[in-house]
Amino acid sequence: MSLFANIIFSFSLAYTDNLTATGKLDKAAIYGSDGSAMWASSNNFKLEPSEIQELVGGFANASNLWASGLHIQGQKYFCIRADDRSIYGKHEAEGVLCVKTKQAILIAHYPGGIQPGEAAKIVEQLADYLIGQGY
Ligand SMILES: *[C@@H]1O[C@H](CO)[C@@H](O)[C@H](O)[C@H]1NC(C)=O
Ligand SMILES: *[C@@H]1O[C@H](CO)[C@@H](O)[C@H](O)[C@H]1NC(C)=O
Repeated sequence: MSLFANIIFSFSLAYTDNLTATGKLDKAAIYGSDGSAMWASSNNFKLEPSEIQELVGGFANASNLWASGLHIQGQKYFCIRADDRSIYGKHEAEGVLCVKTKQAILIAHYPGGIQPGEAAKIVEQLADYLIGQGY
């Protein structure tokens, strides 16, 4: 890993850890906006290349997500929101929240028992913060 990548990684790791530290999100990751590089991950949250590319494509055109759902770590989630900033998926009581910033995609998972709206607010706030910082 280059020094630059290392700095980005350490910096981003603080943010995925921030998300999981809230107790509302149990897993989180940050990818570069084209999905080719994972910048940080908490609790071994890692998507298959096809899964992250499904999201990258979904931010541009959500019609496949509405039709076929999204897939995270092998689990299919129904698409409940998809626009050029936010893609939310739900499977029974758990869900995933994916938010695109200027240079990154935040992906976080909440377990059953958490209010989806509360979890979404946390991820959207971090996305706003990163956008404000130029990321
Ligand atoms: C992340 O957590 C640190 C403390 O560990 C805190 O100082 C910081 O404000 C948090 N950042 C965000 C964006 O919540
Ligand atoms: C989005 O993708 C669908 C299915 O692949 C396609 O039919 C549609 O034309 C696309 N929409 C745009 C705006 O590109």
